[in-house]
Amino acid sequence: MTNARRFVGKDCVVTGAGGGIGRAVALRLAAEGARVAILDIDLNGARETLFLCGDDHHGFAGRLDVRSEASIANAAAQAAEVFGGVDVLVNNAGIEKLGSIEETTPDVWDDIMAVNLRGPYLTSRIFAPQLLARAASTGGAAVVHNASLMGQVSSPRLAAYCASKAGLISLTRSMALDFATRKIRVNCVCPGIIHTDMLERRFALEANREEAYQRVSQRPPVHYIGNPEDVAAAIAYLAADESRFVTGSALTIDGGVGAA
Ligand SMILES: NC(=O)c1ccc[n+]([C@@H]2O[C@H](COP(=O)([O-])OP(=O)(O)OC[C@H]3O[C@@H](n4cnc5c(N)ncnc54)[C@H](O)[C@@H]3O)[C@@H](O)[C@H]2O)c1
Repeated sequence: MTNARRFVGKDCVVTGAGGGIGRAVALRLAAEGARVAILDIDLNGARETLFLCGDDHHGFAGRLDVRSEASIANAAAQAAEVFGGVDVLVNNAGIEKLGSIEETTPDVWDDIMAVNLRGPYLTSRIFAPQLLARAASTGGAAVVHNASLMGQVSSPRLAAYCASKAGLISLTRSMALDFATRKIRVNCVCPGIIHTDMLERRFALEANREEAYQRVSQRPPVHYIGNPEDVAAAIAYLAADESRFVTGSALTIDGGVGAA
């Protein structure tokens, strides 16, 4: 953990914060003094994250489906009412479904794109006025997308997921350029293998979960799997003022997998 307090007085929004990496991000930002809007399609998960943030945290939990414009607009209205503006937006919500293009039906393709790529686009677009207003009054705001190493390299039977994450890395660059002079920095993280429910759902497809865990743990050159806190630390850095000269970048957090 950290003793840093980089987010005192800052208002942050995290999507998909009801579990996994999003929960770790919300907890990290809250521990560093932020008020956090903890948003997830799973309201119970979001409420649990809020509870874990502790009694002295003054954020809120809400249900958000990043596939729906109305749902995002509703969350943005709540953030405006409770916070009066937003300093940091973390577009973390994402889904993964295995499949080559032959195995991926158009419906599955559309769903992955709707959550992983259209979701961050729509959420950024709807929160942009609040981010711009804060950037103008405080001197800076930040957006961090949770992309993936799978947007930089590829893997068999992950066609739609990889395409969505490559698109998100590209969106990061476009947004960074469009907002550069208006003081919103836009970056993304590219995690490798991180131990969350998403990974456990993959292990559940294997005959022997323990064997699969051991095998996958050996894949990164460091010979261990990352945890959500590893990614949260990188997202916090990109969201904090200390990274003021960093925009349009993709930070890989993968124990060296992509280096090989
Ligand atoms: N776990 C990994 O190895 C890994 C690696 C690289 C990138 N990522 C990315 O990190 C992000 C978080 O993944 P995770 O591993 O924590 O997964 P997870 O499945 O544990 O958590 C994802 C969260 O997103 C929420 N969510 C799903 N659909 C949503 C929607 N339509 N609207 C709002 N919320 C929604 C879920 O309810 C869940 O709480 C994803 O974007 C994922 O692609 C994960």
